[in-house]
Amino acid sequence: MPRTPTRAAAVLLWILSLARCQEQHVSCELSADCVLPCSFRSSDEEVIHWRKRDTTVHSFYYGSDQLQLQDKRYSGRTSLFRDLISRGNASLLLQRAEIQDQGRYSCYVSTTLGNSETSVSMQIMALIQSVDMEKTDSGISCVVRGAYPEPSFNWSTDPPTAPGSLSDRTQAAEDKQGLYSATSTVTPPEDLSGHTFICSASTADGTSWTASLRQQEDLHGAVDRALVIPCPIPESSHPSSNTSWTFERDGNLSLILWRDVSMEQPKIMPLWDRRARGLSEDGSLQLQNPEGPELTGTYTCRISATHTLHVVRTKVTIAGASSDTGSFTVIHAIIVIVVALLVTGIVILVLAWQKGWLPRSGPPPKGNSAQTQMLHGVASKEGGETGGGEMEEVKTLSS
Ligand SMILES: *[C@@H]1O[C@H](CO)[C@@H](O)[C@H](O)[C@H]1NC(C)=O
Ligand SMILES: *[C@@H]1O[C@H](CO)[C@@H](O)[C@H](O)[C@H]1NC(C)=O
Ligand SMILES: *[C@@H]1O[C@H](CO)[C@@H](O)[C@H](O)[C@H]1NC(C)=O
Ligand SMILES: *[C@@H]1O[C@H](CO)[C@@H](O)[C@H](O)[C@H]1NC(C)=O
Repeated sequence: MPRTPTRAAAVLLWILSLARCQEQHVSCELSADCVLPCSFRSSDEEVIHWRKRDTTVHSFYYGSDQLQLQDKRYSGRTSLFRDLISRGNASLLLQRAEIQDQGRYSCYVSTTLGNSETSVSMQIMALIQSVDMEKTDSGISCVVRGAYPEPSFNWSTDPPTAPGSLSDRTQAAEDKQGLYSATSTVTPPEDLSGHTFICSASTADGTSWTASLRQQEDLHGAVDRALVIPCPIPESSHPSSNTSWTFERDGNLSLILWRDVSMEQPKIMPLWDRRARGLSEDGSLQLQNPEGPELTGTYTCRISATHTLHVVRTKVTIAGASSDTGSFTVIHAIIVIVVALLVTGIVILVLAWQKGWLPRSGPPPKGNSAQTQMLHGVASKEGGETGGGEMEEVKTLSS
């Protein structure tokens, strides 16, 4: 009879020693349901207390939940797996996990066999909600929203550059919910202008997002001439993706159109209804009749799929009609060249006539072709010089 308590005490010590050295770690997704594990040697008359420091999270005894002392923050969010208690499972289900729920929890269980205490360290994770990449005055920025804990960044280029040639600065801020918005910026050296910049943002749980940005070669279009602006991205990224095109001019940004997976046709914004014909299979933007040089600016496509984003920027110049000073210079130059050519032609003819090898003075003597060629050479040289003189005259006239 006196031996039973001794054995019970021994078992208790064993359980305690076991419990002390094991602290479990769990990661829970923000706003999701989360299970804090706890097990014990099943027996009768269970008393279960879940606590976080000195606050009561959940209690159970006399065969039912006892929530009189429960901290208000946990109200309506906790439960035990009632059917499993008799089998030694005292795990706690915590619903709609919050960032403030993070920390060390203790699970105290007492039964007819004695008591035990284990602890669980809980960490919240929030998967990155979105990643964007943009070009700013200070460089190229990778922007991550809605992550917890703070994400880390990793930059590379395509084609690759030596490690360390890109150094980034990261700024993070917490929103009302406690989630991080982080921006990592690199200032690429001039000689990397043709490269694609790749930013990879990862959170502690190991998931990462990859975004790339590329500035492709400038395009030139003309008023009222259809123009296709390509969005070259890796083949594999096309299906199941969200595509959008934006236009930027003097710091003003305007959404042209967008299409997500569920849509057959892109949604074109009212302002662009008559300018954009639509999207090609490969994501190219079709402009049907740029109405003027005010459509000169940067066109950016964004193609995003799960955990990836590709951004391609294109500077487009739309050459305008009459009133535009740029095209006036071009027309002016063409007139000058045409007039100069005409004058040169006339001068050659006059010279040739003077030297007397035109048909007027009868057929040229035989075997004289070499001499003729020489004369012709001289004539065109003189003609060229005279032409140049004439060109200056024309310029003076027109200015
Ligand atoms: C207890 O039950 C819950 C719910 O089924 C389960 O998630 C947990 O792993 C169990 N714990 C143990 C220690 O068996
Ligand atoms: C950067 O990202 C690449 C690709 O995701 C990965 O292979 C590499 O190990 C990362 N480097 C660092 C320093 O995290
Ligand atoms: C697709 O992109 C557009 C423009 O960026 C955005 O408004 C829209 O919500 C996105 N749709 C999805 C499903 O991500
Ligand atoms: C930018 O947009 C604003 C408002 O839409 C407009 O008043 C302004 O003229 C625009 N600036 C340029 C340079 O287009």
